[in-house]
Amino acid sequence: MSTVAVVGSQWGDEGKGKVIDYLATKADMVVRAAGGNNAGHTVVIEGKKYALHLIPSGVLNPQAVNIIGNGVVFNPQAFFEEIEGLQKDGVAADKIFVSDRAHIVFPFHIELDKLYEEAKGEDSIGTTLKGIGPCYSDKIARVGLRTCDMLDIDSFKEKLAARIDDVNRTITLLLSGKPVDRDAIVDEFVDYAKRLAPYIVDTGVIVNEAIKAGKNVLFEGAQGSMLDIDLGTYPFVTSSHPGSGGFMTGAGIGINSINEVVGITKAYTTRVGAGPMVTELANAVGDEIRERGHEYGVTTGRARRCGWFDGVVVRYSSQINGTTGTALMLLDVLDEFDEIQICYAYEEGGRTIEHFPADLSLLERCVPKYKTVKGWKTDITGCKTYDSLPLEAKAYIKEIEEVTGVPVKIVSVGPGRDQTIVREEIL
Ligand code: GDP
Ligand code: IMO
Ligand code: MG
Repeated sequence: MSTVAVVGSQWGDEGKGKVIDYLATKADMVVRAAGGNNAGHTVVIEGKKYALHLIPSGVLNPQAVNIIGNGVVFNPQAFFEEIEGLQKDGVAADKIFVSDRAHIVFPFHIELDKLYEEAKGEDSIGTTLKGIGPCYSDKIARVGLRTCDMLDIDSFKEKLAARIDDVNRTITLLLSGKPVDRDAIVDEFVDYAKRLAPYIVDTGVIVNEAIKAGKNVLFEGAQGSMLDIDLGTYPFVTSSHPGSGGFMTGAGIGINSINEVVGITKAYTTRVGAGPMVTELANAVGDEIRERGHEYGVTTGRARRCGWFDGVVVRYSSQINGTTGTALMLLDVLDEFDEIQICYAYEEGGRTIEHFPADLSLLERCVPKYKTVKGWKTDITGCKTYDSLPLEAKAYIKEIEEVTGVPVKIVSVGPGRDQTIVREEIL
């Protein structure tokens, strides 16, 4: 049996989609358990690019069953659009199940996301405007609707209409917005309810049975550890638990169900949206990383903020995830630099900080302490083995292992499936 959790170690977009697709060639099941279509996971197969948002990246491997777990916030419109897009590309997308406990994202969540962001003005979070925060807020406030509610159409209609009336009061009275069209939304979602019925099951049973039967099960993280609602750079976070802990509650499995936790880690740092980022390079070096790494969002198209590798961040995320191995991604993006910097600690007011701080005003004052290593100045995109990497690249990897305390088990040297160097088999 092998159960592997794949989590983002930084602020998302680390290359999770690529690793999931790579590992999914050996997986029986791929499970999403947190976030929603705010995620944008890229998979490149034989030069063709696929962008996945809500559907697990295992869908491109025909044998894998794909699960959208109870911890996901589920947008039916996005779901059907994604399936249709995949089918146009010749992907069957026919082995997908959706948890009957997943909360539903409605158009009023998207409207609220927009209104809350506008109200925050300069302090806005820079959300993806997919309604994720408002949907999780409804869940926690115990007023949300779940996919199982869709299975009884008459009562679903009633619950949804009542919820929309409540939300419209908030929109008009508190946020000075325009009310959403209740009847149109109810009709639209009754149609989705009918189409979704065959997909909606108790996914917790399926996942636990697969684990018990000794199948290879991959848990696909979305977002990144630093965006965790509890452990990330609050309030500049998403509203879910993207780390390994999120798989317990978000897929309905026990704490001892996962054998290995792979931290998907960029060879540098990026962040999209607002919030502090200690190693950010708002200069020509940052621009060069952005251009070489094509660092523009898959979901929103926004330019990502770029900087050197932040070892304080990745050490912290290894701790909160129990990471057993690192997949070091996009190493080829650093191919042309004379020198590369690794942040191993922060400095603030003359003292050294080794542990990631909670207080954002303190974090804003931190400056990175860097170790400089020599660049390799070689195109590594064709390297197939660890031994064939330049000495300087291996030295950089070793530094990262030392700073984070986690062995690098996979090295990725390009977006393609065949640009993956495996030092230690994971599944
Ligand atoms: P995810 O959200 O974690 O799945 O990551 P994204 O798909 O948002 O962003 C990662 C980007 O890097 C995608 O465009 C991938 O195709 C690309 N990518 C992944 N691994 C590599 C790599 O090793 N080298 C390069 N150059 N690109 C990569
Ligand atoms: P993947 O899975 C990068 C960021 C948004 C914003 C904050 C809150 O592709 O790595 P939200 O819409 O979730 O309420 O936005 O979180 N964010 C991501 N950043 N990658 C992601 O997903 C993200 N999902 C959300 O930019 O700063
Ligand atoms: Mg992404």
